[in-house]
Parts: sequence; C-alpha cells; structure tokens
Amino acid sequence: MNELSKKISEIGVVPVIKLNHPERDAAPLARALTAGGVPVAEVTFRAAGAAAAIRLMAQECPDMLVGAGTVLTTAQVDEALAAGAKFIVTPGLDPDIVKYCQGKDVPVFPGCTTPTDYHTAYKLGLEVLKFFPAEQSGGLAKIKAMSAPFPMFKVMPTGGISLKNLADYIKSPVICACGGSYMVTADLIDNNRWDEITDLCKKSVEIVKEARSNG
Ligand code: 3PG
Repeated sequence: MNELSKKISEIGVVPVIKLNHPERDAAPLARALTAGGVPVAEVTFRAAGAAAAIRLMAQECPDMLVGAGTVLTTAQVDEALAAGAKFIVTPGLDPDIVKYCQGKDVPVFPGCTTPTDYHTAYKLGLEVLKFFPAEQSGGLAKIKAMSAPFPMFKVMPTGGISLKNLADYIKSPVICACGGSYMVTADLIDNNRWDEITDLCKKSVEIVKEARSNG
C-alpha cells in the first residue's frame, strides 16, 4: 500500500460526506472529524459545492486527508485536485479515470465488486479498491470470496456500513478501512450536531482498535 493508503488504514474509517452548504458546514465538520480521531474524508461530487467543501476542509485542518468521491469525469479530477484533494474515489471502475490519476501520481480508489472489475484493476496496477456498494453487493462474504483469486488487493467497503457491522468488516485482513455516512448524516450536519459527529467518530475508532487487537 502507498503512504496515503497506509494512513487511511491506520484511521480505519472514512466518512463519506455530502455538503450542501460548504461555506457554513465544511470548517466545523473538519474540526469535528479531527477531534474524533478521524482526520480523513471522502467529499462526494454529488453536491454542487464539493470542490469548495474540499478546499475549506483542507484549509481548516491542513493535516486532514481530504479526498474527492463520486468522481465521474477527468474534469472533476482536475477540479478536485485544484481544490486540494489528496485522493480520488470513483463509484465504478473507469480505466480512463484511473490512468488519468496515475499519470498525475494521485491515489485513486475505484469502486469494484465483480471478478471482471478486480481483473481490470489488477491490470491497471491498483492495490486498494473501494468495494461499493458493499452490503448490497454481498458484503463481507463476497469480499472474502473475491480475495481468493485476487489476494493482492485491500478493499475499502462502503455502502451499508454502520457501528453495528464495522467490527466484522475491520477484523478481516482484506479490509483497508471502511467508508460510511453514518457519522456524517444530513440530519447531524444540518442541525450542527458537531459533538455527536465527534462522538460517533470516537466510537468508530474504538471499534476499529478493539477489532484489530482481538484479531
Ligand atoms: C458512498 O457513496 O460510498 C455511499 O453512498 C455511502 O454509503 P452509506 O451511506 O450506506 O454509508
């Protein structure tokens, strides 16, 4: 794994963030995540202000690993990088976007769930994949089955992860980190429930530590 993937793996969870009001929410959210021991974020391009959110979060917490998610085009890669994104996440595997990021030396985590996806990712020289949507695609059982022919990959499952199933995923050596929106829901953000976000992050980090120490 490259340095960035190692750092993400150490943290263990990646909040998947959609911010409709980045000017209002990006800075306090970055502080809340960092205070909870989760200085990483996948800021999705599902909201129009994604680039602004990336820029503001990175400005507020310069050590935070702020990346871009739901990236669908190379133009969005450029937009994300100009805003300061340190990594790119795509919902599916688009070899053009992967090669574009590799050409810029930017870590890219494409969403993969099938043997065909994995095989293409192997040919592209990738090491860490997003496994998306995780629960809906077969969850941990499928991730384990996929690692038999493809033991070279670590995966970041996202989709349906919560405090309830986080430990099960993290215990598997195939898992790099788990992504999720459960600690950054629209309700929590819109109502400025920053302390609760910090608490959910702290709980997540505890679960990760405990799951890993118990093997
Ligand atoms: C993603 O974009 O990775 C998912 O939508 C996040 O999934 P979740 O909301 O089920 O955590």
